[in-house]
Amino acid sequence: MRLPRSVRDADVADKVVLVRSDLNVPLQDGRVADDTRIRASLPTLELLVERDAREVRVCSHLGRPTDEDRAKYAMEPVAARLRELLPDDRVHVLENTRFDSRETKNDESFARELADGCDLYVNDAFGSAHRAHASTEAVAHLLPAYAGLLLEEELDHLGRLLGDVEHPFVLVSGGAKVDDKLGVLQNLGGRADTVLIGGKMAEQLRDATPLGFPVELPVDVVAAEAFEEDAESRVTPYDSLPDGWLGLDIGPETRTRFAEEIARARTIFWNGPMGVFEWPSFAGGTRAVAEAVAANDAAFTVVGGADSLRALSEMGLVDRVDWASTGGGAALELLEGKELPGVAAIPSS
Ligand code: 3PG
Ligand code: MG
Repeated sequence: MRLPRSVRDADVADKVVLVRSDLNVPLQDGRVADDTRIRASLPTLELLVERDAREVRVCSHLGRPTDEDRAKYAMEPVAARLRELLPDDRVHVLENTRFDSRETKNDESFARELADGCDLYVNDAFGSAHRAHASTEAVAHLLPAYAGLLLEEELDHLGRLLGDVEHPFVLVSGGAKVDDKLGVLQNLGGRADTVLIGGKMAEQLRDATPLGFPVELPVDVVAAEAFEEDAESRVTPYDSLPDGWLGLDIGPETRTRFAEEIARARTIFWNGPMGVFEWPSFAGGTRAVAEAVAANDAAFTVVGGADSLRALSEMGLVDRVDWASTGGGAALELLEGKELPGVAAIPSS
Protein backbone atom coordinates (compact mmCIF):
# COMPACT_ATOMS: atom_id res chain seq x y z
CA MET A 1 0.00 0.00 0.00
CA ARG A 2 1.29 3.47 -0.90
CA LEU A 3 1.74 5.58 2.21
CA PRO A 4 0.99 9.30 2.24
CA ARG A 5 3.50 11.66 3.82
CA SER A 6 3.05 12.33 7.51
CA VAL A 7 2.16 15.46 9.43
CA ARG A 8 5.11 14.51 11.64
CA ASP A 9 7.36 15.63 8.78
CA ALA A 10 5.61 18.95 8.22
CA ASP A 11 7.01 22.24 9.41
CA VAL A 12 4.00 23.76 11.15
CA ALA A 13 5.49 26.36 13.46
CA ASP A 14 3.70 29.68 13.05
CA LYS A 15 1.55 28.25 10.22
CA VAL A 16 -2.20 28.30 9.73
CA VAL A 17 -3.21 24.68 9.31
CA LEU A 18 -6.47 23.40 7.81
CA VAL A 19 -7.29 20.00 9.28
CA ARG A 20 -10.00 17.74 7.88
CA SER A 21 -11.12 15.45 10.70
CA ASP A 22 -14.06 13.06 10.70
CA LEU A 23 -16.20 14.55 13.44
CA ASN A 24 -19.32 12.91 12.05
CA VAL A 25 -20.48 11.51 15.38
CA PRO A 26 -23.84 10.04 16.35
CA LEU A 27 -26.14 12.68 17.85
CA GLN A 28 -29.13 12.10 20.08
CA ASP A 29 -31.48 14.90 21.16
CA GLY A 30 -29.05 17.50 19.83
CA ARG A 31 -26.11 16.16 21.84
CA VAL A 32 -23.06 14.12 21.01
CA ALA A 33 -24.08 10.54 21.79
CA ASP A 34 -20.60 9.09 21.37
CA ASP A 35 -17.40 11.12 21.21
CA THR A 36 -15.05 8.35 20.06
CA ARG A 37 -14.34 10.05 16.74
CA ILE A 38 -13.72 13.39 18.45
CA ARG A 39 -11.23 11.82 20.85
CA ALA A 40 -9.58 9.95 17.98
CA SER A 41 -8.92 13.27 16.25
CA LEU A 42 -7.05 14.71 19.25
CA PRO A 43 -3.49 13.37 18.72
CA THR A 44 -3.09 15.25 15.43
CA LEU A 45 -4.56 18.46 16.83
CA GLU A 46 -2.36 18.21 19.94
CA LEU A 47 0.71 17.64 17.79
CA LEU A 48 -0.04 20.81 15.81
CA VAL A 49 -0.57 22.83 18.97
CA GLU A 50 2.58 21.47 20.61
CA ARG A 51 4.58 22.30 17.51
CA ASP A 52 3.40 25.90 17.68
CA ALA A 53 0.97 26.14 14.80
CA ARG A 54 -0.40 29.67 14.77
CA GLU A 55 -3.97 28.57 14.07
CA VAL A 56 -5.67 25.22 13.55
CA ARG A 57 -8.91 25.25 11.55
CA VAL A 58 -10.73 21.97 11.90
CA CYS A 59 -13.38 21.10 9.34
CA SER A 60 -15.73 18.14 9.03
CA HIS A 61 -19.10 17.12 7.75
CA LEU A 62 -21.81 16.07 10.18
CA GLY A 63 -24.59 13.77 9.02
CA ARG A 64 -26.29 14.12 5.69
CA PRO A 65 -28.16 17.42 6.03
CA THR A 66 -30.85 18.47 3.58
CA ASP A 67 -32.22 21.99 3.11
CA GLU A 68 -35.15 21.14 5.40
CA ASP A 69 -33.35 19.60 8.36
CA ARG A 70 -29.97 21.33 8.40
CA ALA A 71 -30.56 22.92 11.83
CA LYS A 72 -30.14 19.43 13.32
CA TYR A 73 -26.63 19.19 11.93
CA ALA A 74 -24.97 22.37 13.15
CA MET A 75 -21.42 21.72 14.31
CA GLU A 76 -21.73 23.51 17.67
CA PRO A 77 -22.36 20.49 19.94
CA VAL A 78 -19.32 18.81 18.39
CA ALA A 79 -17.20 21.95 18.66
CA ALA A 80 -18.23 22.31 22.31
CA ARG A 81 -17.10 18.75 23.08
CA LEU A 82 -13.81 19.35 21.31
CA ARG A 83 -13.22 22.52 23.33
CA GLU A 84 -13.72 20.52 26.53
CA LEU A 85 -11.21 17.91 25.42
CA LEU A 86 -8.71 20.38 23.97
CA PRO A 87 -9.12 23.85 25.41
CA ASP A 88 -6.84 25.96 23.21
CA ASP A 89 -7.74 29.26 21.63
CA ARG A 90 -5.82 28.46 18.49
CA VAL A 91 -8.15 25.59 17.58
CA HIS A 92 -11.39 26.48 15.77
CA VAL A 93 -14.07 24.21 14.36
CA LEU A 94 -15.61 25.40 11.09
CA GLU A 95 -19.29 24.91 10.27
CA ASN A 96 -20.50 21.62 8.74
CA THR A 97 -18.87 21.37 5.31
CA ARG A 98 -22.07 19.80 3.92
CA PHE A 99 -24.02 22.98 4.57
CA ASP A 100 -22.41 24.03 1.29
CA SER A 101 -23.73 21.98 -1.62
CA ARG A 102 -20.38 22.29 -3.38
CA GLU A 103 -18.75 20.04 -0.75
CA THR A 104 -20.04 16.72 -2.06
CA LYS A 105 -19.42 17.82 -5.67
CA ASN A 106 -15.70 18.06 -4.93
CA ASP A 107 -15.99 21.62 -6.16
CA GLU A 108 -12.75 23.52 -6.52
CA SER A 109 -14.21 26.93 -5.70
CA PHE A 110 -15.38 25.65 -2.31
CA ALA A 111 -11.99 24.03 -1.73
CA ARG A 112 -10.39 27.40 -2.49
CA GLU A 113 -12.58 29.05 0.15
CA LEU A 114 -11.53 26.44 2.71
CA ALA A 115 -7.86 26.83 1.79
CA ASP A 116 -7.98 30.62 1.86
CA GLY A 117 -5.51 32.00 4.41
CA CYS A 118 -4.10 28.54 5.24
CA ASP A 119 -0.50 27.43 4.76
CA LEU A 120 -1.00 23.69 4.79
CA TYR A 121 -3.57 20.95 4.88
CA VAL A 122 -3.69 17.86 7.05
CA ASN A 123 -6.21 15.13 6.28
CA ASP A 124 -6.95 13.05 9.35
CA ALA A 125 -10.48 12.05 8.35
CA PHE A 126 -10.02 8.37 7.70
CA GLY A 127 -13.78 7.79 8.02
CA SER A 128 -14.39 10.13 5.07
CA ALA A 129 -11.39 9.17 2.95
CA HIS A 130 -13.59 7.15 0.59
CA ARG A 131 -15.40 10.36 -0.37
CA ALA A 132 -13.94 12.56 -3.11
CA HIS A 133 -15.34 15.77 -1.62
CA ALA A 134 -14.00 19.33 -1.61
CA SER A 135 -12.71 19.10 1.96
CA THR A 136 -11.16 15.63 1.50
CA GLU A 137 -9.91 15.71 -2.09
CA ALA A 138 -9.96 18.98 -4.03
CA VAL A 139 -8.37 20.99 -1.22
CA ALA A 140 -5.42 18.58 -1.03
CA HIS A 141 -4.32 19.87 -4.44
CA LEU A 142 -4.37 23.50 -3.35
CA LEU A 143 -2.13 23.36 -0.27
CA PRO A 144 0.86 21.23 0.74
CA ALA A 145 -1.00 18.14 2.00
CA TYR A 146 -0.10 15.69 4.75
CA ALA A 147 -1.71 12.71 6.46
CA GLY A 148 -2.76 13.06 10.09
CA LEU A 149 -1.78 10.59 12.80
CA LEU A 150 -5.16 8.83 12.91
CA LEU A 151 -5.26 8.40 9.15
CA GLU A 152 -1.80 6.84 9.28
CA GLU A 153 -2.68 4.52 12.10
CA GLU A 154 -5.87 3.37 10.39
CA LEU A 155 -3.98 2.54 7.19
CA ASP A 156 -1.43 0.66 9.22
CA HIS A 157 -3.90 -1.53 11.12
CA LEU A 158 -6.38 -2.10 8.33
CA GLY A 159 -3.50 -2.86 5.98
CA ARG A 160 -3.11 -6.07 7.94
CA LEU A 161 -6.50 -7.23 6.71
CA LEU A 162 -5.40 -6.66 3.13
CA GLY A 163 -2.53 -9.08 3.27
CA ASP A 164 -2.65 -12.81 3.97
CA VAL A 165 -5.13 -13.21 6.76
CA GLU A 166 -5.76 -16.23 8.93
CA HIS A 167 -8.87 -18.16 8.04
CA PRO A 168 -11.78 -18.44 8.61
CA PHE A 169 -12.25 -14.77 7.75
CA VAL A 170 -15.72 -13.71 8.89
CA LEU A 171 -17.26 -10.48 7.73
CA VAL A 172 -20.24 -9.13 9.68
CA SER A 173 -22.17 -6.32 8.05
CA GLY A 174 -25.19 -4.30 9.09
CA GLY A 175 -26.20 -0.69 9.54
CA ALA A 176 -28.31 1.65 7.54
CA LYS A 177 -26.22 2.79 4.56
CA VAL A 178 -27.29 -0.17 2.47
CA ASP A 179 -26.81 1.29 -0.97
CA ASP A 180 -23.26 2.36 -0.14
CA LYS A 181 -22.29 -1.05 1.10
CA LEU A 182 -23.80 -3.48 -1.38
CA GLY A 183 -21.30 -2.76 -4.13
CA VAL A 184 -18.42 -2.98 -1.71
CA LEU A 185 -19.65 -6.28 -0.30
CA GLN A 186 -19.96 -7.57 -3.83
CA ASN A 187 -16.23 -7.12 -4.31
CA LEU A 188 -15.20 -8.08 -0.82
CA GLY A 189 -17.31 -11.17 -0.28
CA GLY A 190 -14.90 -13.36 -2.19
CA ARG A 191 -12.13 -12.68 0.33
CA ALA A 192 -14.21 -13.72 3.33
CA ASP A 193 -15.16 -17.29 4.15
CA THR A 194 -18.44 -16.31 5.75
CA VAL A 195 -20.53 -13.16 5.39
CA LEU A 196 -23.10 -12.52 8.12
CA ILE A 197 -25.69 -9.87 7.40
CA GLY A 198 -28.08 -8.18 9.78
CA GLY A 199 -29.87 -4.86 10.12
CA LYS A 200 -31.46 -3.02 7.28
CA MET A 201 -29.13 -4.60 4.78
CA ALA A 202 -30.59 -8.05 5.47
CA GLU A 203 -34.05 -6.67 4.77
CA GLN A 204 -32.97 -5.63 1.32
CA LEU A 205 -31.37 -8.97 0.52
CA ARG A 206 -34.23 -11.12 1.80
CA ASP A 207 -36.08 -11.66 -1.43
CA ALA A 208 -33.25 -11.54 -3.93
CA THR A 209 -29.57 -11.02 -3.37
CA PRO A 210 -27.48 -9.30 -6.03
CA LEU A 211 -24.37 -10.67 -4.33
CA GLY A 212 -22.70 -13.47 -6.21
CA PHE A 213 -21.81 -15.53 -3.15
CA PRO A 214 -23.70 -17.07 -0.24
CA VAL A 215 -24.46 -14.90 2.75
CA GLU A 216 -26.03 -15.79 6.06
CA LEU A 217 -29.19 -13.85 6.63
CA PRO A 218 -31.18 -13.77 9.87
CA VAL A 219 -33.54 -16.65 10.57
CA ASP A 220 -35.56 -14.66 13.09
CA VAL A 221 -36.13 -11.02 13.99
CA VAL A 222 -37.47 -8.84 16.75
CA ALA A 223 -40.50 -7.40 15.02
CA ALA A 224 -42.12 -4.13 16.05
CA GLU A 225 -45.55 -2.77 15.31
CA ALA A 226 -44.14 0.66 14.50
CA PHE A 227 -40.79 2.42 14.21
CA GLU A 228 -40.90 3.59 17.83
CA GLU A 229 -38.73 3.08 20.86
CA ASP A 230 -41.49 1.48 22.95
CA ALA A 231 -43.48 -0.13 20.17
CA GLU A 232 -45.06 -3.48 20.89
CA SER A 233 -42.59 -6.14 19.79
CA ARG A 234 -42.23 -9.90 19.43
CA VAL A 235 -39.86 -12.42 17.92
CA THR A 236 -40.97 -13.85 14.58
CA PRO A 237 -39.36 -16.03 11.91
CA TYR A 238 -37.53 -13.88 9.40
CA ASP A 239 -39.85 -14.67 6.52
CA SER A 240 -43.14 -14.24 8.34
CA LEU A 241 -43.29 -10.74 9.72
CA PRO A 242 -46.91 -9.79 10.45
CA ASP A 243 -48.29 -7.37 7.87
CA GLY A 244 -47.05 -3.84 8.44
CA TRP A 245 -44.58 -4.85 11.18
CA LEU A 246 -40.89 -3.97 10.99
CA GLY A 247 -37.87 -6.10 11.82
CA LEU A 248 -35.84 -3.87 14.15
CA ASP A 249 -33.26 -6.38 15.39
CA ILE A 250 -31.99 -9.87 14.71
CA GLY A 251 -33.69 -12.51 16.85
CA PRO A 252 -32.23 -14.89 19.47
CA GLU A 253 -31.77 -17.85 17.12
CA THR A 254 -29.84 -15.66 14.67
CA ARG A 255 -27.70 -14.27 17.49
CA THR A 256 -26.69 -17.79 18.48
CA ARG A 257 -25.81 -18.73 14.91
CA PHE A 258 -23.84 -15.55 14.27
CA ALA A 259 -22.00 -15.93 17.60
CA GLU A 260 -20.97 -19.49 16.65
CA GLU A 261 -19.54 -18.35 13.33
CA ILE A 262 -17.73 -15.49 15.02
CA ALA A 263 -16.27 -17.83 17.66
CA ARG A 264 -14.78 -20.06 14.94
CA ALA A 265 -13.19 -17.18 13.05
CA ARG A 266 -9.49 -16.27 13.09
CA THR A 267 -10.00 -12.94 11.34
CA ILE A 268 -13.08 -10.76 11.86
CA PHE A 269 -14.23 -7.50 10.40
CA TRP A 270 -17.50 -6.15 11.79
CA ASN A 271 -19.18 -3.02 10.45
CA GLY A 272 -22.66 -1.78 11.25
CA PRO A 273 -25.23 -2.57 13.97
CA MET A 274 -27.68 -5.46 13.68
CA GLY A 275 -30.71 -3.35 14.52
CA VAL A 276 -31.90 -0.11 16.06
CA PHE A 277 -29.52 -0.51 19.00
CA GLU A 278 -30.12 3.05 20.24
CA TRP A 279 -33.40 1.69 21.63
CA PRO A 280 -32.93 -0.88 24.42
CA SER A 281 -35.65 -3.24 23.14
CA PHE A 282 -33.80 -3.60 19.84
CA ALA A 283 -30.19 -3.60 21.05
CA GLY A 284 -29.81 -7.29 21.88
CA GLY A 285 -28.57 -8.41 18.46
CA THR A 286 -25.88 -5.76 18.22
CA ARG A 287 -24.87 -6.51 21.79
CA ALA A 288 -24.59 -10.23 21.04
CA VAL A 289 -22.35 -9.59 18.03
CA ALA A 290 -20.19 -7.14 20.00
CA GLU A 291 -19.77 -9.65 22.82
CA ALA A 292 -18.92 -12.50 20.45
CA VAL A 293 -16.31 -10.43 18.62
CA ALA A 294 -14.77 -9.22 21.90
CA ALA A 295 -14.69 -12.74 23.32
CA ASN A 296 -12.67 -14.18 20.45
CA ASP A 297 -9.14 -13.67 21.73
CA ALA A 298 -7.66 -16.00 19.14
CA ALA A 299 -8.78 -13.88 16.20
CA PHE A 300 -7.49 -10.62 14.76
CA THR A 301 -10.58 -8.51 15.32
CA VAL A 302 -11.42 -5.22 13.65
CA VAL A 303 -14.59 -3.25 14.21
CA GLY A 304 -15.42 -0.23 12.07
CA GLY A 305 -17.94 2.58 11.80
CA ALA A 306 -19.32 5.22 14.14
CA ASP A 307 -22.36 3.20 15.26
CA SER A 308 -20.46 -0.03 15.86
CA LEU A 309 -17.91 1.97 17.86
CA ARG A 310 -20.68 3.54 19.88
CA ALA A 311 -22.11 0.10 20.70
CA LEU A 312 -18.68 -1.19 21.70
CA SER A 313 -17.87 1.81 23.86
CA GLU A 314 -21.25 1.76 25.61
CA MET A 315 -20.55 -1.86 26.49
CA GLY A 316 -17.01 -1.12 27.63
CA LEU A 317 -15.56 -3.47 25.01
CA VAL A 318 -13.42 -1.14 22.90
CA ASP A 319 -10.22 -2.44 24.48
CA ARG A 320 -11.18 -6.04 23.76
CA VAL A 321 -10.82 -5.75 19.99
CA ASP A 322 -7.55 -5.47 18.13
CA TRP A 323 -8.52 -2.35 16.23
CA ALA A 324 -11.54 -0.11 16.59
CA SER A 325 -11.63 1.76 13.29
CA THR A 326 -13.26 5.16 13.03
CA GLY A 327 -14.14 4.29 9.43
CA GLY A 328 -17.10 2.20 8.35
CA GLY A 329 -17.56 2.65 4.62
CA ALA A 330 -13.95 3.83 4.28
CA ALA A 331 -12.65 0.67 5.95
CA LEU A 332 -14.83 -1.51 3.72
CA GLU A 333 -13.59 0.24 0.58
CA LEU A 334 -9.99 -0.04 1.69
CA LEU A 335 -10.50 -3.77 2.27
CA GLU A 336 -11.88 -4.04 -1.22
CA GLY A 337 -8.39 -3.07 -2.34
CA LYS A 338 -9.29 0.41 -3.54
CA GLU A 339 -7.09 3.44 -3.04
CA LEU A 340 -9.21 5.97 -1.16
CA PRO A 341 -9.50 9.40 -2.89
CA GLY A 342 -8.70 11.26 0.33
CA VAL A 343 -5.47 9.28 0.67
CA ALA A 344 -4.58 9.31 -3.02
CA ALA A 345 -4.59 13.13 -3.04
CA ILE A 346 -1.74 13.32 -0.51
CA PRO A 347 1.79 13.05 -1.90
CA SER A 348 3.87 10.03 -0.84
CA SER A 349 6.40 10.18 1.94
C1 3PG B 1 -19.17 7.81 8.00
O1 3PG B 1 -19.75 8.01 9.07
O2 3PG B 1 -19.19 6.71 7.41
C2 3PG B 1 -18.34 8.91 7.43
O3 3PG B 1 -18.30 10.01 8.28
C3 3PG B 1 -18.85 9.28 6.05
O4 3PG B 1 -20.18 9.73 6.10
P1 3PG B 1 -21.08 9.63 4.79
O5 3PG B 1 -21.36 8.16 4.55
O6 3PG B 1 -22.32 10.42 5.07
O7 3PG B 1 -20.27 10.20 3.64
MG1 MG C 1 -8.35 -10.62 19.52
